[in-house]
Amino acid sequence: MDVRKDFPILKRKIHGKELVYLDNAATTQKPQVVLDAERDYYTNHNANIHRGVYVLSEEATNLYEKAHEKASHFINADFQEVVFTRNTTESLNLLAYSYSVWDLQKGDEIVLSRLEHHSNLVPWQQLAQLKGVTVKFIELENDGSLDMESAKKLIGKKTKIVSIAHMSNALGTINDVRELGKMAHSVNAVMIVDGAQSVPHFSVDVKKLDCDFLAFSAHKMYGPTGMGCLYGKKDLLENMKPFLYGGEMIREVSYEHTRFNDLPWKFEAGTSNIAGAIGLGAAVDYVSSLGMESIEEYEKELLMYGTKKLSAIPGLTLIGTSKKKGGIISFDMKGIPPHDMASILDADGICVRAGHHCAMPLMNHLGIHGTCRASFGIYNTKKEIDRLAESIEKAKKIFKV
Ligand SMILES: Cc1ncc(COP(=O)(O)O)c(C=O)c1O
Repeated sequence: MDVRKDFPILKRKIHGKELVYLDNAATTQKPQVVLDAERDYYTNHNANIHRGVYVLSEEATNLYEKAHEKASHFINADFQEVVFTRNTTESLNLLAYSYSVWDLQKGDEIVLSRLEHHSNLVPWQQLAQLKGVTVKFIELENDGSLDMESAKKLIGKKTKIVSIAHMSNALGTINDVRELGKMAHSVNAVMIVDGAQSVPHFSVDVKKLDCDFLAFSAHKMYGPTGMGCLYGKKDLLENMKPFLYGGEMIREVSYEHTRFNDLPWKFEAGTSNIAGAIGLGAAVDYVSSLGMESIEEYEKELLMYGTKKLSAIPGLTLIGTSKKKGGIISFDMKGIPPHDMASILDADGICVRAGHHCAMPLMNHLGIHGTCRASFGIYNTKKEIDRLAESIEKAKKIFKV
């Protein structure tokens, strides 16, 4: 994709070498249009939203609500169904909190999978402890895909919540969340999709998925940090308790009572991350202009190229080889601990992540301490993958393996 010119940071040199940024699952770099959108808000339109009757406040409000429109349109949701949060983590916590004051009884079950990010595990674990409910885990096949037979067995009458990553940040597996949603709905459970790794990399349509909730983060889709979204079906959001109370989320307050605001503002207490929302809107425009189908196709090509290149290196094992995978390659190099590998790559200007990738239970389940992970974005090239492979060979020489 001819986009490298859009990202100022890609001109940087690291240790005198051209930057090769392969840590897109952690966060992505920002195109100039996103940087400009945030700067323009602060430079020309900065004011608090909703409350003002003056021009600046109206402009800021329009920009913020336009971002709401863009974010909801992007995933084929209605305007009222997308709540702005700080990130995927906050979106999932909002749901767990809401269930803590809502609907769970002792003996109910929450179904997750063995490959969840801590963000889609810890909140449910805490909720389970609080409410006396049980968390169950869908098993994995050897290639890192979900064992759908195990899912069928686990999702039953006691299941109230099924919450699953659309794409694993550690293994790259793309999960059939639509099918899991059907299983959840057949027992009247809600289906929550952690879209942190899917929404930035392929087209996600909440109506087609028929999920009840979807969480994602702006910073993983070329937008700003501190900005995320929670999609929820309108009737479900309407029945949920707010997560935070205060200004903006109210319609009417007396000393005794409060009537909450309409959706989505009912869940957006206090002054929002206005600049972040505007930046997210710009990121949505940017990826939409490239086309999510083209992004998916391009990253698939990188994945295929990278998989071939890296699996040809003697001693290197790919961790996660599901047929349905996004642009993430986790690997182990025999004789080189992941952090040492990542440091050697860094000396060559290559950014990869090493460790448990916020999925410690998964690493334990696989019987490893961690992996090295290269994750692709729209600006990566095959040439960069060649540099990664060369640098891995260099590490092997240093470690004499
Ligand atoms: C699958 C998945 N879920 C949740 C998260 C949490 O995202 P954030 O840190 O933006 O809240 C991540 C981040 O890496 C992720 O990959």
